[in-house]
Amino acid sequence: MDVHARRHTIWHDPGDKAGGDKVRVYEDLASQLDGLLTGQTDFIATLANAAAAIYHGLPSLNWAGFYLLRGADLVLGPFQGKPACVRIPMGKGVCGTSAARRRSVLVPDVHAFPGHIACDTASQSELVVPLVRGETLIGVLDLDSPLLARFDAQDQAGCEALVAIIVRHLASDAAV
Ligand code: SME
Repeated sequence: MDVHARRHTIWHDPGDKAGGDKVRVYEDLASQLDGLLTGQTDFIATLANAAAAIYHGLPSLNWAGFYLLRGADLVLGPFQGKPACVRIPMGKGVCGTSAARRRSVLVPDVHAFPGHIACDTASQSELVVPLVRGETLIGVLDLDSPLLARFDAQDQAGCEALVAIIVRHLASDAAV
């Protein structure tokens, strides 16, 4: 792709040029995500593009998306991957556990996590990061991988940085 073509492209896969360096993948993805979300304030559009950017920007994922707090439950939001369970009670599964604790939950082997909710049988490991603005829980970002132990502390830190960018952009949507 020449430089003029790239200038008019809103997305390129960070892994294409990061040479497998995980920190650089996250730095590049964060920068692209920030640009992608700048200039529009729609809640659904922000989360939909964020899910697509993360799904296509990180290797070895089979699902990436959001569950959003609706009353006492988490309800399926914008995502990429196979159709998923719609409603997760607070405190249940990996997503509900992360939401209840308001902390990231890193699961190297989903089969070893008590109460794991299997939406896609291909999933072997999972990382969930809560979206919190001030005192308000918005929902969670959920990433699934078909590889065991796909996620480590670098992924957790990288995804927490991505979520901070997403929450900052959601803050400009008065409808949230
Ligand atoms: N595994 C999640 C459910 C959501 S799907 O992975 C998309 C959980 O245990 O909360």
